[in-house]
Amino acid sequence: MRGILPVLLLLSACGSNTGDNSSGGTGGEAADLAPSAEQIDFARTAVPADSKLAAKYERSCRTCHSAIDAAAPLTGHKEAWAARSSERGQAGLLAQTKSGFNAMPAMGLCNDCSDEDLSAMIEFMSGRTE
Ligand code: HEC
Repeated sequence: MRGILPVLLLLSACGSNTGDNSSGGTGGEAADLAPSAEQIDFARTAVPADSKLAAKYERSCRTCHSAIDAAAPLTGHKEAWAARSSERGQAGLLAQTKSGFNAMPAMGLCNDCSDEDLSAMIEFMSGRTE
C-alpha cells in the first residue's frame, strides 16, 4: 500500500509537463521549440514518399517520432531538428541513431535499415523534404 502514493505523484508530475508551452522567459529549449498545431498534425500522418522507406519508417521511427508525448523530436518539426543538426551535423545524427541515444534504442528499432535508409529518414523527419 505504501508504494502507491509516490507512484501516483510521479505519474501526475509527468503529465503536467506535456502541452504547456506558456512558461516562457527562460529561453529554455522546450519553451522555444514547441511544435505548432500543423506540425503536430503533419507528424501524425506523414511518411516518406519512397514506399520501401515508408514501410520501414512506419514500423520503426514513426512509433516515437509522430507522437508529441514520446519526447522524441517530431517528424517535420524543423526547429527542433535544426538545433540538433547544427550541434552534431547530419553525420552526428546518423551516428546517434545507430548507437541509440537516451530513450531511443539503437538503430531506432530498424535493424534492417542501411546507413542510406537512416540518412534518408533523418532528412525526411527533419523537414528537409515534405
Ligand atoms: C522507441 C522510440 C524511438 C524510435 C523507435 C525512434 N526514435 Fe529517434 N529518438 C527517440 C527519442 C526519445 C529521441 C530524443 C532523445 C533525446 O534527445 O534525449 C530521439 C532522437 C532522434 C534523433 C536525434 C538524435 C540527436 O543526436 O539529437 C534522430 C536523428 C533520430 N531520433 C532518428 C530516428 C530514426 C531515423 C528512427 C527510425 C529508424 C528513430 N529515430 C526511431 C525515440 C525513438
